Amino acid sequence: MLLYYLITFPFVLFAAVRTYNLIKNYIDARKYGLPIILLPVSFEDVWWMIIRPLFAWVERLPLGLGDWYVYTEMGWPTVDGDRTTKRLGENFVLCSPYSNHIITCYPAGAETIYRNHSKWHFPPAQSQIFAFYGQNVSSTTGADWQRHRKITTAAFNEHFMQEVWSESTKKAALLNLAEERDRKLDRIRSTFDVLAMNVLAVVGFGQERLLNTATPGHKQSLMECLGFILQHILLTAIFNSLKVPDFLLPGVLQRLKRSVAEFKLYMEELVLHQMKQPSSASKTEGSPPTLLEAMVNANEAEKQQLQKTAGRPSYLTESELYGNLFVFNLAGYETTASTMTFALSFLATNTEVQSWIAEEINRYYTSQNGEKRGYAYAYPKLVRCMALMYETLRLASPAPLLVRAPSSPQELPIILPNGEERIVTVNPGTLVGGHFYGGHLSPRWGPDAHVFNPKRFISKSTVTGEEELVTPPDTLFIPWLTGPRVCPGKKFSQVEFVAIVAQIFSEYRVHVLPENNESEADARARFEGVVGQKYFNVSTHLKKPVEGAVRFVQR
Ligand code: HEM
Repeated sequence: MLLYYLITFPFVLFAAVRTYNLIKNYIDARKYGLPIILLPVSFEDVWWMIIRPLFAWVERLPLGLGDWYVYTEMGWPTVDGDRTTKRLGENFVLCSPYSNHIITCYPAGAETIYRNHSKWHFPPAQSQIFAFYGQNVSSTTGADWQRHRKITTAAFNEHFMQEVWSESTKKAALLNLAEERDRKLDRIRSTFDVLAMNVLAVVGFGQERLLNTATPGHKQSLMECLGFILQHILLTAIFNSLKVPDFLLPGVLQRLKRSVAEFKLYMEELVLHQMKQPSSASKTEGSPPTLLEAMVNANEAEKQQLQKTAGRPSYLTESELYGNLFVFNLAGYETTASTMTFALSFLATNTEVQSWIAEEINRYYTSQNGEKRGYAYAYPKLVRCMALMYETLRLASPAPLLVRAPSSPQELPIILPNGEERIVTVNPGTLVGGHFYGGHLSPRWGPDAHVFNPKRFISKSTVTGEEELVTPPDTLFIPWLTGPRVCPGKKFSQVEFVAIVAQIFSEYRVHVLPENNESEADARARFEGVVGQKYFNVSTHLKKPVEGAVRFVQR
C-alpha cells in the first residue's frame, strides 16, 4: 500500500499543480475578452515535446476531444493554416498550465511586437534552440545582439549579391534536368537542399567542395551531419550537453552526438582554411569577401580596435564564431530549399503562370543571342519571378509562428471577433505569437486568398508604365519579419531564388507526372493534395513528398 502511495503521489501532485496553474492562467486570459482555447500542455513543456509523437492518436478521438493536440508544437500554424482564425478571428488565446499565448494575425498587433525588440524580446526557450555551438545573432538580445549583427552582416553588400546571382545561375544550370527529368518531390527537395548549400558554401564560405561525400578525416558528409541535426533539432538542443557515456544513450542520441561533433569539425576546418588565406587586401581585385572572410576580418578589426580603446568586447569569442557559422549554415539553405520546392510544385499545376513567368525571363534574362544576362541588368527587372517568391512564401511560409515576450507590461493592439479594436496590456510571462498562416490566408487578401496567384503582387507603375512589386494594403505579409531583427539574409534569398527560377525556366517547363493511366485532371488534383499537406521542422516540409512527382520538359 505504501509503495502504491509512493508511486502515485508524484503524479497526483503534478496533476494538482498543473490544474491550479491552468485555472490561474485561464482567469488571467479572460481579461483580454478574446476567445480562449484550453490546452493540457504547451510546446514550452520540454518533457511534452519529447513524448509528443507517442500521442498522435489523440487527434483521432471522437467529439473533438483531441482538437488541442495540433496547438502543442511550435510550428502548429503550418498544419492548421487558417482553420482556427476562420473560426475565432484574428486574435485568440492559447491557455495552458505553462503560460498564455496571445495569437495574432491582426497586422497592427504583429507590427507592434516586431518593431521594438527591447520591449518585446525573443523568449530564451525559443532563442536558445540553435545555440548549442555557441551564442549567435539569433540567440542574443540587446547590446550582445548588436555586436553579433554588425560582425555577421559585414559581407552583405551589392558585390556579394552579384556573386550570389552568378553562383546560383551557374549551379542551377548543372542540375541535370534533361537526363533526370522525372523527379519525385522528395528528390526535388534534396536537389534544392544541395543546390542552396552549394551556393552558400561558395559565396558564404569560399569553398567549392563535395557536400554529399565524406571528405578525408570524416565519416559523414557535411549534408548528412547537418540534415540529421536539423531533423532532430529539439533532441539536439535538449540532450547535446548531456555528459553521459555513449553506450548508455539510445541509438538516435549516439548518432546525434556524432553528427554534432563532426559538423563542428567541418566548421573548424573552414575557419582554419580561412585563417591560412592571404588577407583580403591581397585578393584578386574586385572579388568581394565571403561571409566567413568578412566575419573573421570584422572580428580581427574589432579585436585590434579594442586594444586601442578599452571597453566592452565588440568581437566574437571562438564559440560565438561557431555559433554564428552554424546559424548561417542552417538559415542560409533550409529556407531557400523549402521555398524553391513549393514554388516549383505550385508552378507544376499552373501552366498559365509558368508562361507568364517565362515571358518575363525571355525578355530580360535570355538575350537575343541566347546568352544569359547578369545580375545588374536582369535582377531588378524580374519582378514576376519575385512575385512568385512572395506568393510561395504567402502560401508555404517557412516561418509559421514567431513569438515575442514583453520585458515589462506592454500595450498590444488587438481585434475582437466582432471587429472591435482594442489596446490591452500584456504582462511578462505571457507570450504573443504572430500567426503567419492565419495572416496570409485571411479574407483581407480577398475572396481568392487560398488561390495561388503571384499576379496579386504586381501592378503597373503610373509613372514609368513598368510592372512593379506591390503588397496589398492592410494585409499581414512579413515573411522575412520587419523591424530591426528583419532577416539579414533577405536579399541573399531573393537574389538566389530569382536567379534559380530564371535559369531553370529559361530552359524548361515543369509538369505534374501522372501515375498509371490517370487523367490530367486527376493527376493535378492528387498532386495538389500532396502539396497541401505540410509540417514544420526548422522550415516547411511536405508530409508525403514521395506521392507526387514532376517532369521537366525542354522548352
Ligand atoms: C526564403 C528565405 C528566408 C526567409 C523566409 C527567412 C525568414 C526569416 C525570419 C522570419 C527571420 C526572423 C526569425 C525570428 O526573429 O524569430 C529570420 C532571421 C534570420 N535569418 Fe532568414 N530567412 C530566409 C533566408 C535566409 C538566408 C538565405 C540567410 C543567410 C544567408 C538567413 C539568415 C538569417 C539569420 C542569421 C537570422 C537571425 C537574425 C537576427 O535574429 O538578428 N535567412 N529569417
